[in-house]
Amino acid sequence: MKTILTGLRPTGNLHLGHYFGACVNYLKLQDEYDFYLEIADVQGLTDNFFNPEKVRHNVKEITIDLLSIGLDSSKVHFFIQSRIPEIAELTVFYSNLVTVARLHRNPTVKSEIAQKKEIFGNEGESITYGFLGYPVSQAADITCFNGELVPGGEDQMPLVEQCREIVRKFNSIYGDTLKEPEILLSENKRIKGLDGNDKMGKSLGNAIYLVDSEEEISKKIMGAVTDENKIKRDDPANPNKCMVYYYHKLVNNKENINKVCDECQKGTRGCVQCKKELIESMNNFLSDFRAKRKVYEENPELVDKILADGTREALKKAKEQMVKVKKAMKLDYEN
Ligand code: TRP
Ligand code: SF4
Repeated sequence: MKTILTGLRPTGNLHLGHYFGACVNYLKLQDEYDFYLEIADVQGLTDNFFNPEKVRHNVKEITIDLLSIGLDSSKVHFFIQSRIPEIAELTVFYSNLVTVARLHRNPTVKSEIAQKKEIFGNEGESITYGFLGYPVSQAADITCFNGELVPGGEDQMPLVEQCREIVRKFNSIYGDTLKEPEILLSENKRIKGLDGNDKMGKSLGNAIYLVDSEEEISKKIMGAVTDENKIKRDDPANPNKCMVYYYHKLVNNKENINKVCDECQKGTRGCVQCKKELIESMNNFLSDFRAKRKVYEENPELVDKILADGTREALKKAKEQMVKVKKAMKLDYEN
């Protein structure tokens, strides 16, 4: 069984963008691979170092979200990044194998710096060593467990590529030790926001969270962007210009989706009714998630145990890897 590893920054709850963009894939992968799932608190701190409570709180939140979508802790090793000191150690070792210029050229890092002007400055002049270096730490995440495949979207490609370069450099200097990982590219289905924006995102304020209550779902869907040309109930409209139709397509069945499309085009469907139907379908879609989530919320010790067990197994694997790395680097003083 091949080893796969992926990580998530614990900076907020999962929304439909995460779910359809990445997490549904994990549900399949958990049956086919030895799956390590890292709650990347250290990486989360690289752009939230001033807000440790947020990261701490979301470690548990995101773990509960991931369990409640159906990830099975008997198949997936859930672990917390900061609890594996070997990752931090590897990060230091790898930092010699990458140039600062190369990190500045990493497209994902570049676009994140541009998006986070309030932290890193308009021209990126306040960029921290830690944030610039997070691809090195991510290379440590992956190689610490001999990760062969890294499931992720296109934004993760430059990070996996940078990891591959570090691995090649390491192996060429210290001898063949590390495996070069490959990305397992998810069909990076980008989910649009309630406002029609191409991307659903927390900072954009246009997201539907899996954890949203029935009231929140109602309020959000009632406010979703529809075809602006439809004014009266009987006006024919273009469903493809409407976010309500867009979400119907995500959570409704084929027959109903066709009905919505057809009636909208003919002008025999009012937007209020259409939104009410979507609210019902969305609540149905979320009902399994909500039931599972309730169990974890009422029994937080279950979550603690899952994280403790996963972390213990991850630690075992990391220690084995560290012996090899230190031997290759002539840091094996104990042997
Ligand atoms: N960079 C990822 C993100 O932005 C999170 C992450 C941390 C990760 N470590 C990883 C992804 C290792 C893949 C492999 O969400
Ligand atoms: Fe959108 Fe439905 Fe209104 Fe058509 S009828 S514009 S699909 S909300």
